[in-house]
Amino acid sequence: MGKKIVVVGSLIVDLTTYTDRYPVTGETVIGTPPVIGPGGKGNNQATAACRTGSEVYMVGKIGDDILSAVLDEHCRSCGMRLDYLHRAENCQSGAALIEVLTTTGDNRIIVGKGANELLTAAEVEAAEDAIAACEVVLTQLETNDEVLLATKALAHKHGKPFVLNPAPAQPLPEGFLDGVDYFTPNETEAAYYVGAPVETDEELHRAGQALLDMGVKHVIITLGSRGAFYMDREQSLFVPSFHVKAVDTTGAGDSFNGGFVTALAEGVEIAQALRFACATAAISVTRKGAAKAIPTREEVEALLQGQGEV
Ligand code: RIB
Repeated sequence: MGKKIVVVGSLIVDLTTYTDRYPVTGETVIGTPPVIGPGGKGNNQATAACRTGSEVYMVGKIGDDILSAVLDEHCRSCGMRLDYLHRAENCQSGAALIEVLTTTGDNRIIVGKGANELLTAAEVEAAEDAIAACEVVLTQLETNDEVLLATKALAHKHGKPFVLNPAPAQPLPEGFLDGVDYFTPNETEAAYYVGAPVETDEELHRAGQALLDMGVKHVIITLGSRGAFYMDREQSLFVPSFHVKAVDTTGAGDSFNGGFVTALAEGVEIAQALRFACATAAISVTRKGAAKAIPTREEVEALLQGQGEV
């Protein structure tokens, strides 16, 4: 059995269409008939942690509509521990409309949170035993503030690293970043939190320092195909990614986060953990879909050893 990870977060059904170009306002363009699949940042990250070898407890909420079966079935097939997966009555599951460009694999996403919004602090607290027994606690921003506060408080009550993937970017409770152990925005999200552009190396360092000044202990800014930037109070480093042909970048950041927490829980040093995370994300973008595209541990190891077929 792998190391225990608790993921508190969203489960969302994705409806994805692949198109040669995005429509402008008021325009209709032709895309593929939408593909329905499991997604949601919480579920994708939990899937990535599971597939890369962790034992994952998923804390979240789905509805009781027909979409909930897609999520329920997916989580079970991954082998997630679902003792803390709640079901809201008379409620829609979260759903997302995703447009992916066939030329680059880039995407645009609109999320309806549905049942994810209804997860409560009490339901997070019900998972206290799992949190007390785990190595790492991971969350994102597709539930609500009371869940966010309860998750951080419980992780720290039990001395567990609290990893926050701040996506989608939005205002956080006052002072929330103070004490966050690992903060993992992409460049756009980092720019949102520091209120300045994050494009050049100098801007990355400045953003990293600003986040450390807000109380974050370890800053990880994901850079898409360029890899990741890391900064703590002693060091900063760039970790390159892998050259791959992207067909669908949906969930790449989630794959990174899930791979990262597996490596973190296993106690590997930071540069190696980030490289493992980059490999997990790199493989995911070569396949269509979000959770379905996430690679296994064997595939990640093969890429790291130069034998991956991407
Ligand atoms: O990060 C990708 C995910 O964002 C998609 O799976 C979608 O559900 C949204 O939550």
